[in-house]
Amino acid sequence: MPVEHRVAGHLGVAADDYDRTIRTFIPGYERMVATVVHWLDGHVPRDGLVVDLGAGTGALGAAVLEALPDVRVELVDIDPNMLEVAATRCAAHGERFHVRHARFQDELPRCHAVVASLALHHVATHDEKRALYRAIHDALEPGGLVVAADALIYPDGPERARMIDDLFAHMAEHGISGSEATGHLAQWAEEDFYVPLPAELDLIATTVGPGSFTGIRVGLAAARGIALATNAEEIGVTGFEAVVAGLAPPDRDGVRFLLATLESRREDLYVQLFDRLGGHLGDPPGGVGDAYRPAEPVQVVRHVARYIAVVSSRSWPIAS
Ligand SMILES: C[S@@+](CC[C@H](N)C(=O)[O-])C[C@H]1O[C@@H](n2cnc3c(N)ncnc32)[C@H](O)[C@@H]1O
Repeated sequence: MPVEHRVAGHLGVAADDYDRTIRTFIPGYERMVATVVHWLDGHVPRDGLVVDLGAGTGALGAAVLEALPDVRVELVDIDPNMLEVAATRCAAHGERFHVRHARFQDELPRCHAVVASLALHHVATHDEKRALYRAIHDALEPGGLVVAADALIYPDGPERARMIDDLFAHMAEHGISGSEATGHLAQWAEEDFYVPLPAELDLIATTVGPGSFTGIRVGLAAARGIALATNAEEIGVTGFEAVVAGLAPPDRDGVRFLLATLESRREDLYVQLFDRLGGHLGDPPGGVGDAYRPAEPVQVVRHVARYIAVVSSRSWPIAS
């Protein structure tokens, strides 16, 4: 049985009043939930499992269940009172959800996505957070996704001043005075651990194409700016590498190669060829030409059905 963390003791809010109160504390709460759902949309397979860590009263879990009618959600929380409210809130979704009274550190089920909103600031140290991210990585199916939304309060400097101003202004709009807001922050600081972005970000990966020229330039410029501000390392990956990294190795004996494809919008394909475990083969991505002519069957990844004909007509042996 996990050690219990009671939200009533932490935020000073009873579970059944949590949903109203949290919106008075946190600016953009609804937008945050909608943003997490947006990132999941199209990335969780039919009947896939989404785990909501620190699910609380289930606002995010319910939003996922509503927006993605084919997926299942497991709501994990250490506070049984919060889970009780979550179970009532999600009841209309029948068999598609279940609540689990557990800690972040407890074993995660095999799943297709892990989400968390306003929850991971309860992880006390950088090492524990790394361990949690590692456990999440291990629990995710290939191509799985983790989306964590959280408040981030800087320890000092102009970023802190701006965030505190925003928080106080939002609370004031909901009738919470400056001194009450100060009291809330002091209370939360006893249990919450906010890791500033520069400390949390080790690596920024950004696509180097193929793709639209402007899109890639904007992405690279944004990544460069974030890297300069945070001292994070940068790496460039092709869109194909990203897709192939998320795949399980094909289990068919006949498949020796993976051919990642993207339509060029010029009646042709951009392709990159990998070995069956995702190792690089041959040249960087380019148009389908004579450069790649594997004799073995290839598995086409992310193919656009009508373009298979294009590839096939160039005598690629396709295993599909
Ligand atoms: C601020 S609430 C956020 C709830 C909900 N995700 C939301 O966005 O409204 C944080 C939740 O994390 C849960 N929590 C805190 N520490 C936890 C832990 N170690 N394991 C599991 N849940 C935890 C709390 O019980 C609480 O319900």
